[in-house]
Amino acid sequence: MKTPELLAATQARMPQALESFLSRQNPLAAPLSAAMRHAVMNGGKRVRPALVFGAALAAGASGAQALPAALAVELIHCYSLVHDDLPCMDNDDLRRGQPTCHKVYGEATALLAGDTLQALAFLSLTDSPLAPAVQAAQLAKLAHAAADMAVGQALDLAGEGCALDLAALERVHRHKTGALIRASVALGAMAGTADESLRQALDTYADCLGLAFQVHDDVLDVIGDTQKIGKTAGKDEAVAKSTYPALLGLEAAQALAVRLHDEAVAALAPLGAVADPLRELADFLVTRDH
Ligand code: IPE
Ligand code: IPE
Ligand code: MG
Ligand code: MG
Ligand code: MG
Repeated sequence: MKTPELLAATQARMPQALESFLSRQNPLAAPLSAAMRHAVMNGGKRVRPALVFGAALAAGASGAQALPAALAVELIHCYSLVHDDLPCMDNDDLRRGQPTCHKVYGEATALLAGDTLQALAFLSLTDSPLAPAVQAAQLAKLAHAAADMAVGQALDLAGEGCALDLAALERVHRHKTGALIRASVALGAMAGTADESLRQALDTYADCLGLAFQVHDDVLDVIGDTQKIGKTAGKDEAVAKSTYPALLGLEAAQALAVRLHDEAVAALAPLGAVADPLRELADFLVTRDH
């Protein structure tokens, strides 16, 4: 499967940008800073930063204007994965093809690494060439998304072993995963000069894609290969998670991801060719095998 150009460029750019940002922070206690790097510098797909850059491009912003937000959403995402994997949550041993943060550094250090990454995400938005009013709006948007993500995680855990209906499951997914994906696109748009109708079109794209992304993540948990996905396949069924494949069946879940993808792409119609990278990214996100 070919990696879209936008994603490949983002994957090439982010490691150095993340490392440079982390190294500019106050010297941190050795195990904590090593745990943070373990969580961040480890080959994630960098989907959320790519969405920031794609939306920024569509809104006429430069890569430099979008970078603080790209760093911020990836830092929130990495923190969420560290906590998601903890024994008190999903209890996973493998992440991005490596032992999870708590397996290497212990639970307390992993917990604190997640806390620190979350704080640094907000700091990144203030280390920005954008006007202070735009920075403030971005901070509020990201704070809402991070809070929604935690709500979604709580709903996800509460839903283990329960038969959630479709509306309840959609609420979990929109919160735990959709909110940060939607914020990624919004933050990118805010870096530029998008008018209200363009922002609305981008938001509809992100809303549909955010849900499609988690539906496909659930599908990969069923059909994916542990080696490829870099996390233990079959985990959701083992702990009776409420997922789309569990509720609808595998084929209907896959069809739903495609339908949501189509809705996402349809929303971009008014934007023309400038949104091509976002279209390609959407195609990749519902067909990816990792
Ligand atoms: C995994 O996200 C967690 C979800 C929200 C579904 P990604 O699939 O983007 O994970 P990485 O960053 O590439 O490891
Ligand atoms: C992850 O959902 C959501 C967040 C980390 C916020 P999952 O629990 O399905 O993610 P994976 O499958 O462990 O990556
Ligand atoms: Mg989880
Ligand atoms: Mg998990
Ligand atoms: Mg999953």
